[in-house]
Amino acid sequence: MCGIVCYIGKKPEKILIEKLKRLEYRGYDSAGIAVKSDKGFDIFKAKGEIKNLESKVKEIDNSYLGIGHTRWATHGKPDEANAHPHISTDKKWVIVHNGIIENYSSLRDKLIGFGYEFYSETDTEIIAKLLQYYDNGNALETIRQTISVLKGSFALGIMKQDVDGIFFAKSKSPLFISKNEENVMVASDIICFKNFGDTFYQLSDGVFGFASSKKIEFYDKFGSVNIKEEKLDLNEMDDENKYEHFMLKEIYETKPAIKNISEFYSKQRLLEIFENLNVKNIRKIKLVGCGTAYHAALMGADMIEKATDIDCEVVVASEFRYSEPRIGEDTIVILISQSGETADTLAAFELAKQKGAITIGIINIEYSALAKKVDYLLPIKAGVEVAVASTKAYSAQLLVLYLLSQALGNKVKNSEIDLSTVKTLINDFDYGTTKELQDLAEYLRYNDKLFMIGRGKDYFTALEASLKIKETSYINSDTYYAGELKHGFLALIEEDTFVIVFATDKKLIDKTISNAEEARARGAKIILFTPFDIDKGITDKFFKVFKVKKTDDRLQCIENITMWQLIAYYISVNKGINPDKPRNLAKSVTVE
Ligand code: AGP
Repeated sequence: MCGIVCYIGKKPEKILIEKLKRLEYRGYDSAGIAVKSDKGFDIFKAKGEIKNLESKVKEIDNSYLGIGHTRWATHGKPDEANAHPHISTDKKWVIVHNGIIENYSSLRDKLIGFGYEFYSETDTEIIAKLLQYYDNGNALETIRQTISVLKGSFALGIMKQDVDGIFFAKSKSPLFISKNEENVMVASDIICFKNFGDTFYQLSDGVFGFASSKKIEFYDKFGSVNIKEEKLDLNEMDDENKYEHFMLKEIYETKPAIKNISEFYSKQRLLEIFENLNVKNIRKIKLVGCGTAYHAALMGADMIEKATDIDCEVVVASEFRYSEPRIGEDTIVILISQSGETADTLAAFELAKQKGAITIGIINIEYSALAKKVDYLLPIKAGVEVAVASTKAYSAQLLVLYLLSQALGNKVKNSEIDLSTVKTLINDFDYGTTKELQDLAEYLRYNDKLFMIGRGKDYFTALEASLKIKETSYINSDTYYAGELKHGFLALIEEDTFVIVFATDKKLIDKTISNAEEARARGAKIILFTPFDIDKGITDKFFKVFKVKKTDDRLQCIENITMWQLIAYYISVNKGINPDKPRNLAKSVTVE
């Protein structure tokens, strides 16, 4: 969600465009750059895709630094006036901002009282104006004063007319810096540093500073600070794509991710990670996440509860803070996040920590804010995920949650850690037959609504399958517990309504099929999704029986979802939608 990149070096206009393209995955609806040359600032902005901006940007003689931005609209519609960079009235300060300034309205009123005029609806413009208001000739002091009155989240890239360098500041939105000889880059994601630097600095909250071709200085409100230079791990950054879309590439990276996980987490490693965890006093476990990560949490709770006999509760991260959760030292809070930057999940972590709970993070981006903060980090080793719709990361989260259930089960009940299931999954793993998946996608694409039903863990799979279809195909796909049909949902069934029935648990299949029959009797077309052989008498009545490969019950959920990710992908492509960038959505949701 929003991304910034700043560059010190020759031809920044070219580099900024190239790097903004790397930040596209975060989601955005307008973009802009400001470039400094010996003639002053040149600003270019465009609504829509980076290519629109690219076509407007002119080559600038003797340009040597610049700042760029992709904006995902929060305050004010996505147009050129609201697009960043923003500039102060005296034209001395130009800034780009990622985050939200929560007290912008009162600050704006104050500045209007002092005679300032505003040209945009954004919260960001007040920062440019505040820099002018506090300007006392000492730029770093001006920045310190400005950020001290801001409430909310910000990663800032700032240029000043009479200074040859970039100022930066960070609070609750990610910001990194890398250098390569005399060139410097400041960015929201280290992915921008690919083919640039070998090391990077990760800024902590409250840090601000200055970078030029000669030096990088870091400060906090007390004075100068040191930040450790970290090695850039290029293997984690494979964002090249030979497939038609990232979503397809990433679905097909599920099996390699499963293999990575199984190589990384040996029995010994799982024992070591939790060596110092005292489980004697643990009375409850809460699992927290948003969207797909929340669906993984539902599945994880089931796995962990069965392995440990400890009560587990799943809470959507955006609700966690406001639910006044009764947690303390007797609680483990498991935070699940692909990006590790999701604002609501980070806020849930802060509350859990404040209340003394033990925190475990199931996270993909190992340099993310959340990954750095949790007591126990379990990386999911899925590699970079670029498509907005999460696919391989979900499956990797499920597998790591399973491993966590085994490790906790071992601590609590002294039970054996069972990794044979993972081997079986790797051997069994099957993406299905492309033709069959494409045919089903072709049937489903013409519907404006779809229903999915299931019992137990199948219901959770249906939730995630439904989210994938909604996100990438804009079909209103709704999910119900199969046993709930008669309690209201049946009223929605009309002739030829598609009902997709998830029935992958042997214990529950007969009950689920009875529910499917109830829907069929009212005109529904049933697609039964199951690994089991079904009597011909039943299958003849259904529109389609769609088979999935059987694996160990505990990891069947991974087999199940992969096919639905592919179906969602094909529906999207058949409808002419770009599945990598669904409308209105961002990959990394860094605001509440
Ligand atoms: C998944 O397809 C979604 N784009 C979204 O629900 C996502 O899972 C959610 O925003 C949480 O993100 P996180 O895992 O990075 O915290």
